[in-house]
Amino acid sequence: MEQLTEAVKQRVQQLKQKVQEASYAYYALDNPIMEDAVYDRLYRELQELETQYPELISPDSPTQRVGERPASQFSSVRHNIPLYSLENAFNIDEFAKWQERWQRQTSETKIFEYVCELKIDGSAIALTYENGVLVRGATRGDGVTGEEITQNVRTIRAIPLRLNLENPPPRVEVRGEAFLGLEVFEQINHERQQSGEALFANPRNAAAGTLRQLDSRIVAKRRLDFFAYTLQIPGRDDVDVARTQWESLEVLQKMGFRVNPNRKLCQNLADVRDYYNEWNTGRLNLPYMTDGVVVKLNSILLQEQLGFTQKFPRWAVALKYPAEEAPTRVEAITVSVGRTGALTPVAELQPVQLGGTTVSRATLHNSDRISQLDIRIGDTAIVRKAGEIIPEVVRVLPELRPANTQRFLMPTSCPVCNQPVVKPANEAVTRCVNASCPAILKGALIHWVSRDALDINGMGEKLVQQLVERNVVQSVADLYDLNATRLGSLERMGKKLAEKLVTAIADSKNQPWSRVLYGLGIRHVGSVNAQTLTQKFTTVEQLAAASAANIESVYGIGAEIAQAVYQWFRVPANQTLIDRLREAGLQLANQEASSPSATGEQRELRLAGKTFVITGTLPTLKRDEAKALIQKAGGKVTDSVSAKTDYLLLGEDAGSKLAKAEKLGITRLSEAELLQMLED
Ligand code: IVH
Repeated sequence: MEQLTEAVKQRVQQLKQKVQEASYAYYALDNPIMEDAVYDRLYRELQELETQYPELISPDSPTQRVGERPASQFSSVRHNIPLYSLENAFNIDEFAKWQERWQRQTSETKIFEYVCELKIDGSAIALTYENGVLVRGATRGDGVTGEEITQNVRTIRAIPLRLNLENPPPRVEVRGEAFLGLEVFEQINHERQQSGEALFANPRNAAAGTLRQLDSRIVAKRRLDFFAYTLQIPGRDDVDVARTQWESLEVLQKMGFRVNPNRKLCQNLADVRDYYNEWNTGRLNLPYMTDGVVVKLNSILLQEQLGFTQKFPRWAVALKYPAEEAPTRVEAITVSVGRTGALTPVAELQPVQLGGTTVSRATLHNSDRISQLDIRIGDTAIVRKAGEIIPEVVRVLPELRPANTQRFLMPTSCPVCNQPVVKPANEAVTRCVNASCPAILKGALIHWVSRDALDINGMGEKLVQQLVERNVVQSVADLYDLNATRLGSLERMGKKLAEKLVTAIADSKNQPWSRVLYGLGIRHVGSVNAQTLTQKFTTVEQLAAASAANIESVYGIGAEIAQAVYQWFRVPANQTLIDRLREAGLQLANQEASSPSATGEQRELRLAGKTFVITGTLPTLKRDEAKALIQKAGGKVTDSVSAKTDYLLLGEDAGSKLAKAEKLGITRLSEAELLQMLED
């Protein structure tokens, strides 16, 4: 064995410090100062020297985070200072009451400040440092006695093994929240599922379970994290260290702890409310769970004046977010029809308070989801509502299921219009495909009048709503029976406006067959597909008579599209719609040169059979506008350049598409040239 020299000692000291600094920057400050590879080399060198000279190993060495042997059980420890819990307020009014209460107990109510912190949903732990070295970590337990989990705590990288202080006081007590990030949580549950173990219900349980895991090697793998929030130095007046909670947090961070950055100083109730509201949505983007915010009086002096009740500090309160998950009874399962015709099964619930509102319905998404959940009427189910998310059923509690419940089956006909529904084998969604179904009529009308379809100006969503609700229009064909008198009877509809609308509706009869087809809103038939289809099937009669295979044979039309079109024309109500549109005088065939109104259509087919790709920013046209122009003239617009591309419409700052087009020798076109082509 080699002689232990002063140089080796110094090197070990230096390595410890470097690794410690890098790990603080990485885990506590979220601001790495060293490349991973460099860190690994230093760490390994330290490890090697320590193996060679075991006498140099100290408990604060960064290599000592991973324990060796599993403990047989934890010993219990009495906390030097009890770990208090927090009083809850569930909304800002309750917070106001809490504020009134503490203000009644002191005269210092004029000038005060709050520190708002996020309430991390984990497990509180207490850390003891002696002469700057971590000597003990303990769970909260009942607040007075907890379990000694020092070995496990040492694996948490956001907790320093040695405080970053020149002259550490004999004892320092730090409290904070140990937790699991959402990503790690999901990973753990995934692994548990693979190995057939029971899943953790939420990150809090997973964190608590991990902290009490007897084998610290497993704990190290689980990557627990930690935010420090309380600093206490016994024997020294707290005010010497920090006069405020805000300063405490800063001191904690300097000592080497990870401190949550999303804290805020607040001067009054309005500030607190803003913070609470901000994080009620902001928390959805955090990589860890929070269940509220904690509001603390900033002044340590004021804190000391107010003191504690039996259980809580009088100077702090947890302002919680409303519960997001709760069990309730499923009273019925109904089916609603959305504007795309999708049938959505809905659980009708015994009302529960969730996410700050009363929830009495929750989506079951589709029939696949129903089978997965195996939900039955009478079941008790866990319902979730998070933020703006639509309430949904997360799972069923089968142990509470009453006897003789029946499985729920999706209906075979639309609950609104009674027409048969369609569920393609490869899709989860069941759909009503009847264009006149009132539930989908509104959506259909909005689509029909939209710019790329029949382009009926002045027909907004509000008006469509009125037309449907007042039963004025039951099908898009009814639009063509409207007159100014009928329209004039609607809310906020003057005579002038009504006349204008009637004209706009009449004008739409001149729109080409391709736009009519697009306007019908058949699934998968966007404006490009409508163009493609109408080039092959030049009349509606041809398309309606075509077999699915025949439709699919059109270049650019896939099986899914072909099926959707074929099915659509098999629905009797849709056939009636086509008849009525024909009677109303809409274009259901491509206009040949013989027709008097053909000039427009002729020009429009100028680009027939040509494929365009648009790239870069055009000088005057928006991309959509250029696309519409090309399509109107019978051209096709695709997203990527290929050998089939005829023209590359080129604007400023073109990207990789230009390079590819050049390789393939594709003709370039400026906006002006395109407009010229359309003019000619
Ligand atoms: S302060 C005497 N601050 O919430 C003050 N607690 O419901 C003690 N918690 O037991 C706690 N984030 O586990 C405080 N920023 C935070 C917190 C926080 C989470 C937990 C803690 C406490 C529980 C009370």
